Amino acid sequence: MQDTLLEKHSVEEILARHMYEDFEIIEILQEIQRMEGYLSEKNLVLTSKRLRIPLSRVYGIATFYKNFTLVPRGKYTLQVCTGAGCLAKGGMKILDRLRNTLQVKVGGTTSDRMFNLETVRCVGCCGRAPVVVAAGKIVSGVDFGEILEAIENLRKRGRDEIAQPARS
Ligand code: FES
Repeated sequence: MQDTLLEKHSVEEILARHMYEDFEIIEILQEIQRMEGYLSEKNLVLTSKRLRIPLSRVYGIATFYKNFTLVPRGKYTLQVCTGAGCLAKGGMKILDRLRNTLQVKVGGTTSDRMFNLETVRCVGCCGRAPVVVAAGKIVSGVDFGEILEAIENLRKRGRDEIAQPARS
């Protein structure tokens, strides 16, 4: 219940910070998605009402741009390389350990909505194989502890951002 109130309050803050200007809708939707990890129906409706623009237009924008998602996704994406070079160096073992540690299947999102787990085919860093890309940053999987450390740092950063939304 408290999360719902905080979330609504924060979306209201985002809308107010943009002075309810309809021409800022893309920035507004980007900020809402950054905060929530996706664009929920209730926030699209709220955006439509506050900006006084038709819901169909808000949906049109939210579905037109590939960067927007209408389904819950994690804040950060973890990509385990399953290219030949990484598989030869234990990439699949890394993937299994991450699935078990995070309790999530490939293509899924952790229950705290902090991480998406995906696979990727060669990110061009075969010399560092096995490789995991954590929120866009390459982490060598040779030391699984390094991967866990990167994940915990991201989790902490994500929680801090949720606790203290950006203000301009
Ligand atoms: S195969 Fe993994 S980085 Fe190339």
